[in-house]
Amino acid sequence: MSVPIIRSLDALREMTAGWRSNGETVGVVPTMGALHQGHLSLVRAAREACDRVIVTIFVNPKQFNNPEDLENYPRTEEDDARKLEPFEVDAIYVPDGDTMYPKGFATNVSVEGLTDMLCGAARPGHFDGVATVVTKLFLQTQADQAFFGEKDFQQLQVVTRLAADLDIPITVVGCPTIREEDGLAMSSRNLLLSDRSRIKAPLLAQVMNDVAEALQNGAKMSDVAPNAEARLIAGGFNSVDYLEMRDGADLSILDDAKPKARLFAAAWLAGVRLIDNIAV
Ligand code: PAJ
Repeated sequence: MSVPIIRSLDALREMTAGWRSNGETVGVVPTMGALHQGHLSLVRAAREACDRVIVTIFVNPKQFNNPEDLENYPRTEEDDARKLEPFEVDAIYVPDGDTMYPKGFATNVSVEGLTDMLCGAARPGHFDGVATVVTKLFLQTQADQAFFGEKDFQQLQVVTRLAADLDIPITVVGCPTIREEDGLAMSSRNLLLSDRSRIKAPLLAQVMNDVAEALQNGAKMSDVAPNAEARLIAGGFNSVDYLEMRDGADLSILDDAKPKARLFAAAWLAGVRLIDNIAV
């Protein structure tokens, strides 16, 4: 059965009010569409945990740093709706720009500290855009649980923080990264890779796995990072935004591995920015 697509906030509220008055729990999976198995794993987790599941699709202009990236972002609504059918999702919420940011919109949600580093440093304003839209989606859906991927580990931390800080009664659930067979982390942006770039892309995860192994064996990040970056460049990547080991709890930088350490990377391949992170 096809999934109802809801475009207005009034219709969303009416639907969720009915569910809540029946005592049903609601899960939300926020996305920007171009759904792949990574997104669908979140939908599966939501389906297992909650009575009702809403998938949101909104390509959020506030979190893009440049207009070209926003314009090129894949938009595949019909395909997305079809992919969600087998999961018996209760609603797909697809607000338009005016619903999310009506004329006069002036509020910004900004999570300090956690957003200074990694993707926050490389993409100024990005996490304010994410935090603002996610706060709105939490309040609009009034969901009990929200499902996010570890693929965007820093985003997961930011969203967890804002829900706690703003007393939003929602549980943020983190789900593991889903990968292609060759190790490349699934991402909507992978659709933007040419065939030639797609062949090079798995090198990022390979290099990260090798670095993680060296770190486990006692190497220092400062000793292994230069060679790892050089391997990426030699393998066709254009530049590396960051390759760092950080504490998975507070994202503080580490040079020696310890429990909860994670490796984070972002690198450019032919105009496409790929990010990944793994446990060390
Ligand atoms: P988007 O990139 O569409 O991702 C939506 C959700 O899917 C995020 O929680 C992301 O971490 C998760 N995801 C993406 N690839 C994944 C993978 N390979 N394995 C597991 N989960 C994966 O992230 C966003 O959208 C936006 O910033 C959003 C939170 C919707 C706010 O606009």
